[in-house]
Amino acid sequence: METRHLLGLLLGTEEDWPTAFEAIVRRLGPVTDASETVHHYDVERVTVEPFNLRQKPRYDLVIDRLAYWYYHPREWLKKAALMDDLYLLNSPFTFQSMEKHAAYCAMMRLGLKVPETVLVPYKNPPDHAKYAFTAQRYNRPFNLDTIADDIGYPIFMKPYDGGAWVGVTQIRNREELHKAYDESGQRLMHLQKAVAGFDVFARSLSIGAETMVMKFDPDEPMHARYSVTHNFLDAAVGAEVVTIGRLVNAFFRWEFNSCETLIKGAEVAPIDYANACPDVAITSLHYYFPWAIKALVKWSVFCTVTGRRPRYDLETRRYFDIADREDLSYGEKLGAYRELADNYFEVERYADFCASRLANIDEVMLEWIEGPDFDRLLVDTVRATFPAHEHDHFIAHYRGLLAASARDDRTRLG
Ligand SMILES: Nc1ncnc2c1ncn2[C@@H]1O[C@H](COP(=O)(O)OP(=O)(O)OP(=O)(O)O)[C@@H](O)[C@H]1O
Ligand SMILES: [Mg+2]
Repeated sequence: METRHLLGLLLGTEEDWPTAFEAIVRRLGPVTDASETVHHYDVERVTVEPFNLRQKPRYDLVIDRLAYWYYHPREWLKKAALMDDLYLLNSPFTFQSMEKHAAYCAMMRLGLKVPETVLVPYKNPPDHAKYAFTAQRYNRPFNLDTIADDIGYPIFMKPYDGGAWVGVTQIRNREELHKAYDESGQRLMHLQKAVAGFDVFARSLSIGAETMVMKFDPDEPMHARYSVTHNFLDAAVGAEVVTIGRLVNAFFRWEFNSCETLIKGAEVAPIDYANACPDVAITSLHYYFPWAIKALVKWSVFCTVTGRRPRYDLETRRYFDIADREDLSYGEKLGAYRELADNYFEVERYADFCASRLANIDEVMLEWIEGPDFDRLLVDTVRATFPAHEHDHFIAHYRGLLAASARDDRTRLG
């Protein structure tokens, strides 16, 4: 038997990772499953056009990096999810309706060590005819200083639905507190206790059943935020970081998401984990880029070959039942969540599938990374990203990082 699958890429301005994805799928060739059915793959970039709500999409699976700001394709994704069982890596429903705030609440309920967080009312009222009357009748006066004193400085003020660091301020004292609040205007803000003096900022990128935990420095420019450092967490903390990311993802039905945690001693504090469809540009991920592309290809193939169904029901109760047990310690709860999350992602089945059906993908990636097509993509991407006087520097920089990645992969593969 032979069958064909069409993978769709819904894209904004990026050219690098889609080109990589297309190249690896093409070079991988057909995949034969356990029943000897041969699966052929095509990749297409999804175009934006009018659609009838009953029109069947041609795709089996779509990877989206556009719908977080472009609402027409966003609504197409929702229609295709509800009507056509199109496989999407992130549930468009939770991703779009659960802002940071909802994600904080859910994870606090599960007992994660999210720093103390308070939602304060708007500084400037929303434009609504009923506001003045309602506020006069029901809004309780409050003392911002008391709230901040209770949390304890330093504090971060950030939008309840934030992203891309817009409107995020670090606050050390009353003066900065009032200035930031005055400037927040009509944005709804959280005050969150800062994890001061943390040892490590870990950003974990999850793609399906795989997670890469990377050392991250938010103060660096984008190209230098991820550092190539292995074993920077001890084994237990590393496992906790992976569990937290996988738990968030299984809970919300996100399969392509990044999770930020701050680690101080043995404590892991998650601060930002609603980053579905994260940046995977070669200029940000560099060394880890081949891993991310392989994971995207493997997960897409796994889902389409095995007929994995997308799930939009949340089963929150299964998680809350664990959270609410008083006889379980934090560590035991994490263990129980991990089991639910690993089952959700079919971690074992996925590993078996990759070993038996996609055994050649590492070699396929290495050949491509070490060849001329990839180098051309790297050069073009640097030219499109950095000013002219920096081209030579960054071309050499990224060539070095990708060569190191390939070398380490060859060593790992033996
Ligand atoms: N509670 C906290 N303790 C310490 N640092 C924090 C805290 N909250 C936020 N930060 C710092 O502020 C940055 C931005 O905050 P956050 O990630 O919540 O906002 P964002 O708008 O989602 O940003 P991004 O899109 O870059 O992830 C974090 O990367 C971190 O450096
Ligand atoms: Mg963040």
